[in-house]
Amino acid sequence: MKISVIGCGYLGAVHAACMAKLGHDVVGIDVDERKIAALSEAKSPFYEPGLDDLLEEVQATGRLFFTTDMAAAAGCDVHFICVGTPQKKGENGADLSYVDAATSTLLPHLRPGNIVVGKSTVPVGTAARLAEWVRQVEPLTQMMWNPEFLREGHAVSDTLRPDRLVYGVEGGSEDHPAVTTLDAVYASPLDAGTPRLVTDLATAELVKAAANSFLATKISFVNAMAEVCEASGADVTQLADAIGLDDRIGRKFLNAGVGFGGGCLPKDIRAFMARAGELGADQALTFLREVDAINMRRRTRVVELTRELCDGTLLGKRITVLGAAFKPESDDVRDSPALSIAAQLQLQGAVVTVTDPKALANAAGRFPELHYELDTDKAVQRADALLLLTEWQQYRDLEPYALAELVGVPRILDGRNVLDAAKWRAAGWSYRGLGRP
Ligand code: UDX
Repeated sequence: MKISVIGCGYLGAVHAACMAKLGHDVVGIDVDERKIAALSEAKSPFYEPGLDDLLEEVQATGRLFFTTDMAAAAGCDVHFICVGTPQKKGENGADLSYVDAATSTLLPHLRPGNIVVGKSTVPVGTAARLAEWVRQVEPLTQMMWNPEFLREGHAVSDTLRPDRLVYGVEGGSEDHPAVTTLDAVYASPLDAGTPRLVTDLATAELVKAAANSFLATKISFVNAMAEVCEASGADVTQLADAIGLDDRIGRKFLNAGVGFGGGCLPKDIRAFMARAGELGADQALTFLREVDAINMRRRTRVVELTRELCDGTLLGKRITVLGAAFKPESDDVRDSPALSIAAQLQLQGAVVTVTDPKALANAAGRFPELHYELDTDKAVQRADALLLLTEWQQYRDLEPYALAELVGVPRILDGRNVLDAAKWRAAGWSYRGLGRP
């Protein structure tokens, strides 16, 4: 099929490359010339494992190209809208200006029988509004909502082998003509047995908001348990292992630590609360305010614990933060707990050095006042305390004996609970985890 993908960020660039991998002819369109220039040379504008290789592979087949010109969408059968929906400045709601701009620039290029498929995470009701708009311009065009569940760091495999496909169509019927077209787009994963659910537009939009809210709630639940463990001397990692063995609960997303960040979970739960408020259903989601509050409290707690670890004062203390990205295998620093903690420590008088294998350029763009060092050995030199805040494998593998020779004072705060506490203590370190004795 001929496919256009509008918006080439984390979602769109991966989607475009994966659709070409599935055998379709794809054009990726974005207003950002730098992004398009990089992608045209098979270089991902952000770090995503496997994406550069995939871009090179599919571009060599001639089935994928990138442009800033929306006219390239003309002649495509299916148009995916993959632009961002960030949090509005100073408000909780989602900023839909990119979705609206992408749709309005696409409208003149639509042809009868085309399908417009929204993938961006949007407040419930957006798809119906856009469907009406599209219909007024080209009555024979169908609008669908097909939410994306990919995780950064696993985006390629999550797109090629999703755990489910959700198609939102007007009326919610399997017989909707757009269902057959989208089945042809996803023929490969469907043949491989991927479950596919057809819903109405509102349900499809809500599936995404609900999934992210559930994940955020799971993380904040275990972080709330970490607070109680800290108060009572219990160990939250053992607690998570034990409750996780109940398969109604499950162990995934029960890792206590500095909490969730990134470009999705924090802004999605806030936009969901804002939308529920507009719909008069705000009471239903007041618990998400608590989920958000527990999450933000982790960051303050780490600052307090660092102060305790540094004999009661941060003034002039050399602190090295291991990790800047919001999670490993990503260079994304949007709402990163690690960077937010680093900035708070600096404000309270510490001398902070941040290291990360991939995210330093993005981090320096957001927090230019912090000091950055790529080389781990150099970054930890003479440090009064280390804070492991993003669990990159190379930090999990750090050798406590060798590292003790480089730092000023062997003290470490394990913000992700991934180190072997006994091993580090045996090597002479003062070790603190979160929610662990
Ligand atoms: C998330 C959803 O997982 C994905 O389905 C959706 O499409 C987009 O949002 P992503 O933002 O890539 O994906 O990150 P995810 O892997 O979900 O992690 C989110 C945050 O939670 C990270 O900061 C991570 O470190 C944190 N986390 C995750 C925990 O603190 N504890 C856990 O147990 C799991």
